[in-house]
Amino acid sequence: MIALISETRHALPLQLNLLHQTITKFTRKSRQFLLPAARLFLLPIACSLLPKNPYFAFPKISLMSSSIFTDVDQYIHELFIPEDEALNKTMNSISETGIPSISVSYTQGKMLFLLAKMSKPKRILEIGTLAGFSTIWLARALPSDGVLVTLELEQQHADIALKNIENAGLSDKVQILVGPAGESLDQMIKGKTEPFDFIFIDADKPPYAEYFKQSLKLSKPGTVIVADNVVREGRILDKATTDEDAAGIARFNKLISETPEVDASILQTVGEKMHDGIAIAIVK
Ligand code: SAH
Ligand code: DHB
Ligand code: MG
Repeated sequence: MIALISETRHALPLQLNLLHQTITKFTRKSRQFLLPAARLFLLPIACSLLPKNPYFAFPKISLMSSSIFTDVDQYIHELFIPEDEALNKTMNSISETGIPSISVSYTQGKMLFLLAKMSKPKRILEIGTLAGFSTIWLARALPSDGVLVTLELEQQHADIALKNIENAGLSDKVQILVGPAGESLDQMIKGKTEPFDFIFIDADKPPYAEYFKQSLKLSKPGTVIVADNVVREGRILDKATTDEDAAGIARFNKLISETPEVDASILQTVGEKMHDGIAIAIVK
């Protein structure tokens, strides 16, 4: 019982943690005798205070709000990512123009760059450009004659991204296609576009499964498909969710798990961007 409380203390939200701290405080003097007894007595009360699934009820105060994860993220950032004018300017362009602040973080960008580089890509496809932050990281994984096609719905985002990509010295490699990604993908499929070596899915979440099916048609054996935001603080676990984004991602996750043409899994992530994950699939 005590072991159970000690174990779950880390995984359960605020109330239980506070309760645990209070019990510990009041029983400090006669720890050996009182603590186990008090814990035993208070366990049912603690449990009754908990919502059925604490993660859905308190996503923001759950385990992942702990600053240890952001502190370690900062540590990784400082170790592995030198000051970078092009990336900083791109981040600033997001706050200055008020477009959504939902790009990948610096450390996630570096990880994307590494994942892309591992697939030795000549051609990269990105679905969801925003200000071009992830675009810049990915384009840097290309050789001098490499190509990156990035798809963006909003003209304003594409305009901002274009400037940031120019400023990063990558205009000769990057092409932005403006319009609904589903349509741009269909056009590329119809036009028998040369397959891509690396594909990053990061646009609107409800059609993620569609984007994956279309991506497969623009792939060849060895193509790596990475998708962002596939965990969303565990919201994908809630089968009864009314959150269209979480539902879309859950459909995508199920689809990649059942698609025999790929080997796939999900990597959970923590840090500045809270608890989330990326899916990685490799075309057989
Ligand atoms: N990959 C970027 C972040 C992309 S945010 C980065 O990490 O830096 C998601 C982007 O997808 C937004 O710019 C949004 O406008 C775009 N988007 C939303 N719906 C879309 C659609 N149907 N087709 C193409 N892009 C879409
Ligand atoms: C959202 C979208 C993203 O691509 C992301 O990385 C974070 C958040 C969003 O729509 O909330
Ligand atoms: Mg994202």
